[in-house]
Amino acid sequence: MPTVIFQLPDGTERKVIAASGTVLMQAAVSGGVEGIVAECGGNASCATCHVYVDSEQAELVGPPNDVEDEMLDFTAAERRPTSRLSCQIHLSDALDGLVVHVPEEQV
Ligand code: FES
Repeated sequence: MPTVIFQLPDGTERKVIAASGTVLMQAAVSGGVEGIVAECGGNASCATCHVYVDSEQAELVGPPNDVEDEMLDFTAAERRPTSRLSCQIHLSDALDGLVVHVPEEQV
């Protein structure tokens, strides 16, 4: 089961142990991570689960899919090169130790 680390805008961090096979957004919501709104429930249609993948792990996580790429143009916080929708990041043991940064705003 991968552990993921959410760096929050206030400088604190939350560690969440996620079940393999779930997505990062589910790990955030079940772990009570503030700042991941996830209005659409994971359908890549709200962009309120936006995160910045730590730049050193961006290659491991991979690029956004086509639908996600379009939605990332509608994030409340600025889009950056490592922006992803957390509902589209599938967790596995290969992503154990993943660090993501939660943006200042989602809506
Ligand atoms: S939860 Fe809506 S886009 Fe990810």
